[in-house]
Amino acid sequence: MGQEVGCLPLSDEVWEERLLFEERHQLDPLDASLPLRLKLEFLHRMIRQHLPFVHRASVVLYDRSTDLLKTFVASGEDNPVDHYQARLADSASLKRMVESRRPRVINDLTLLEGGHSRPAQGLLAAGYRASYAFPMFHGNRLFGILFFNSREAGVFKEGVLQDLAMLSHMITLLVINEVSTLRTLTGALKTASCLTRHRDWETGSHLERMARYARLIARSLAEFGDLSDEFVEHLFLFAPLHDLGKLAVPDRILLKPGPLTPAERREMECHPVTGREMVDSMLENFGLESLSYATMLRNVVEFHHEAMDGSGYPHGLKGEEIPVEARIVAVADVFDALTSSRPYKQAWSNEEAFAELRRMARSRLDPACVEALLRAPDEVEEIQRTFREDGLG
Ligand code: C2E
Ligand code: SIN
Ligand code: SIN
Ligand code: FE
Ligand code: FE
Repeated sequence: MGQEVGCLPLSDEVWEERLLFEERHQLDPLDASLPLRLKLEFLHRMIRQHLPFVHRASVVLYDRSTDLLKTFVASGEDNPVDHYQARLADSASLKRMVESRRPRVINDLTLLEGGHSRPAQGLLAAGYRASYAFPMFHGNRLFGILFFNSREAGVFKEGVLQDLAMLSHMITLLVINEVSTLRTLTGALKTASCLTRHRDWETGSHLERMARYARLIARSLAEFGDLSDEFVEHLFLFAPLHDLGKLAVPDRILLKPGPLTPAERREMECHPVTGREMVDSMLENFGLESLSYATMLRNVVEFHHEAMDGSGYPHGLKGEEIPVEARIVAVADVFDALTSSRPYKQAWSNEEAFAELRRMARSRLDPACVEALLRAPDEVEEIQRTFREDGLG
């Protein structure tokens, strides 16, 4: 038997192995722990080999509680629609697309009904003429929208549409796999903290608010700096986990109605390192060590109490030594702590809290992050209206 196999012409075997190897090599980027943007770029290049007129691909995520669509990742020669958000309800044709769960095809963007939204204007100005939009569903829930754009009008027609629908399904799976693993993970952790302790300021609306303050700050920084939409949305998912380590801090400390003794304070100051250890073991248990944004999650948890002037804990890092994701979460965390009641303090008004943040921006907090929050008082109030104390927990 072994003899027979050995008799196969060697050259064929080598040939076959090479084929297999090349196949695997080509698809490697999809297995690797690359950021989603690079995976999308890779798929986009493959799509262009067959459909060369698909000049741009982009994914927009949907946030159900606010009805907002937010740019997430894009691939193309230029990206005229970045750092953008809009209500689904404000686009009649996208809303119809979602309700019908069928792709929306616009073969001449200049004729777009209902005038031109900012993204449509941006696309037109950049020379795009046709748009294919695909609603990404996870079960019955809208997850986001996938856009293909072409510089040629009239290309998204019969014969091509079926290919595009199939490719869209594939990209949807990729995005859902990536984002929903994270959502499952963060959801499980939020539920766990909610069930194990009755500290309602650590659950429910507090987490919703502080995640949104963090996103607000990050989006604002992204407009001026080089933070990507993908960075912003990952931060939004991870921000609520910053105090994971408090699960290990005893109630007699966290629920104490007055100031902490030095010994209690020391015990409390362990929570960033405990949290980091919990994140590491959790990533290992979920088999997610190679998750593309694992470092961001670790940094948020471990460094959110570091201070710009080096007076923070646990490591006393200074300024730019503190990863930007942790500087952002610090501001969101302090602002929400100040404006909520805690067992040890009353809630402050927004004006008082803004003044305190301004003061802290001279020493502990990153002034750019504080500025970003102070620039958007209306959005802050809207977050507070949407996510009031809900007695959860
Ligand atoms: P937390 O309540 O979520 O507060 C997060 C951070 O917001 C605090 O980090 C601090 O930087 C800021 N913050 C909160 N309240 C005030 C305030 O009244 N004034 C000012 N200037 N900043 C404030 P910090 O200090 O490292 O505390 C971390 C955690 O330790 C707190 O989380 C809370 O759970 C606990 N904690 C801190 N101080 C006390 C206290 O006096 N009594 C009790 N029982 N717990 C405390
Ligand atoms: C995009 O094409 O990337 C954004 C379009 C939209 O938000 O409507
Ligand atoms: C829109 O906002 O509906 C136009 C954007 C696009 O089709 O990609
Ligand atoms: Fe903390
Ligand atoms: Fe906190």
